[in-house]
Amino acid sequence: MSQQYQHDVLVIGSGAAGLSLALTLPGHLRIAVLSKGDLANGSTFWAQGGVAAVLDDADTVQSHVEDTLNAGGGLCHEDAVRFTVEHSREAIQWLIDQGVPFTRDDDPDHEEGSFEFHLTREGGHSHRRIIHAADATGAAIFKTLLAQARLRPNIELLEQRVAVDLITERRLGLTGDRCLGAYVLNRNTGEVDTFGARFTVLATGGAAKVYLYTSNPDGACGDGIAMAWRAGCRVANLEFNQFHPTCLYHPQAKSFLVTEALRGEGAVLKLPNGERFMPRFDPRAELAPRDIVARAIDHEMKRLGIDCVYLDISHKPAEFITTHFPTVYERCLAFGIDITRQSIPVVPAAHYTCGGVMVDEQGRTDVPGLYAIGETTFTGLHGANRMASNSLLECFVYGRSAAAHIVGLLPHIAMPEALPHWDASQVTDSDEDVIIAHNWDELRRFMWDYVGIVRTTKRLQRAEHRVRLLLDEIDEFYSNYKVSRDLIELRNLAQVAELMIRSAMQRKESRGLHYTLDYPEMLPEARDTILVPPTFDD
Ligand code: FAD
Ligand code: SIN
Repeated sequence: MSQQYQHDVLVIGSGAAGLSLALTLPGHLRIAVLSKGDLANGSTFWAQGGVAAVLDDADTVQSHVEDTLNAGGGLCHEDAVRFTVEHSREAIQWLIDQGVPFTRDDDPDHEEGSFEFHLTREGGHSHRRIIHAADATGAAIFKTLLAQARLRPNIELLEQRVAVDLITERRLGLTGDRCLGAYVLNRNTGEVDTFGARFTVLATGGAAKVYLYTSNPDGACGDGIAMAWRAGCRVANLEFNQFHPTCLYHPQAKSFLVTEALRGEGAVLKLPNGERFMPRFDPRAELAPRDIVARAIDHEMKRLGIDCVYLDISHKPAEFITTHFPTVYERCLAFGIDITRQSIPVVPAAHYTCGGVMVDEQGRTDVPGLYAIGETTFTGLHGANRMASNSLLECFVYGRSAAAHIVGLLPHIAMPEALPHWDASQVTDSDEDVIIAHNWDELRRFMWDYVGIVRTTKRLQRAEHRVRLLLDEIDEFYSNYKVSRDLIELRNLAQVAELMIRSAMQRKESRGLHYTLDYPEMLPEARDTILVPPTFDD
């Protein structure tokens, strides 16, 4: 039997964005935080390098702003960049106050009174400004925020709950546009429950799972982007898919990232013959922004017909390596690679979705009552290429500012009245799940082959043709069979893939992460690619 719930705030997603919003809201509100798997399901848990912020006295807001604008290929919104960077110190202080165990600076030359935590460097940053917990920053942040959330009786943490679609007044045929909550599959019961809420927040992470090879965990399916699109929200800049240059290349190592902080601490990229190649591509060499490094690796792999390149930090003292990068050291060792003596075989893999649901500084979407925060959004911060470690920062800054905005509106917004149950009267159990598995595979493979690091119009047209066929097939399946997590994710992935392809086809230039052989030049004017859903202007 399906259930009806009511909360003041429904937060869909339990990563950095969702938890920081929930913890910033006052303790008298009834808050539900949903995760479609276990609570650690998102990318946050896997983040390695750290969080970028202006923390050192020698660093400035202006410098962080300029670095972000440079990495973003002329497409960042300067107001969003400035807003984020100006709030960076206070966001980090909030994390420290929550108890996040960031690595301290144990340098014997550390000056008394200067910032007490160690700051590392990553590509595009002209200063050391990445605060971190060794090379497992995401796990340290996630565990701390989760422990805090567990202490709060007003926050219900609900696992194995997959949001299927948002409930809006428009969807129910009422006058108005407001979001009233969501339909949510409870994987424990198999029922679709109804969550009514005064405010609904999408904190569902990115969509890198749309590609065959990715650094992301399995749930990164763009659910929030697809749900928001269906509910009438605009999306922007979805052609900018970031490929992380260095993921471990090993047949058994499913999507293991080798943090950019290794390069920040001196690791170099080499060809199989030991030749260093990055200086040929950019004066910043290994510390150029990610789009440049990933494209250079892709170029060398194709030019030489090699399966991977090599990342080498073995010239550093072994103790330095094992202290700063214990996670990478252990994981590589498990595959027989001792990084204190050997170089690491690496390849680029899909890593981050720079575009997403359009929001303002308060995380508001186009649909009243619906907020979006974290990787699922387009805030304008990342432009055509996200700079390393700006993503977690965005989660905290926007999570906290959306919470403040919700608090200001609380007196004016009532709890929605009882909402209709999910209608499952027309569907049966599927006897053909092989279709879902097959379509998942096909989609991720053609996205990798046709919408990858280097694109052409012809490849994009091929991808467009295939995604349309898939969408029709999935629609039919969705109308006839009961929903499952796999089906919900496939439906969303295909929708987001279609939006990505459409965005890529609209961009007739090469800029940042979008590189096409048919338009290799950058146009003089930088423009966002904004897609408007069919219902938006009705
Ligand atoms: P996530 O942490 O991805 O959480 C998404 C949540 O939404 C999960 O709880 C998931 O279960 C839930 N969810 C999704 N769909 C549904 C649905 N339909 N119903 C219910 N729940 C749903 N960034 C940095 O700034 N610094 C780093 O060092 C860094 N390292 C990284 C390393 C790796 C390996 C990866 C993959 C990413 C890294 N990033 C880093 C990027 C950064 O980790 C992510 O952008 C960020 O954690 C996203 O946080 P989020 O809260 O938006 O989403
Ligand atoms: C990394 O540690 O290399 C990932 C950093 C990021 O994605 O910002």
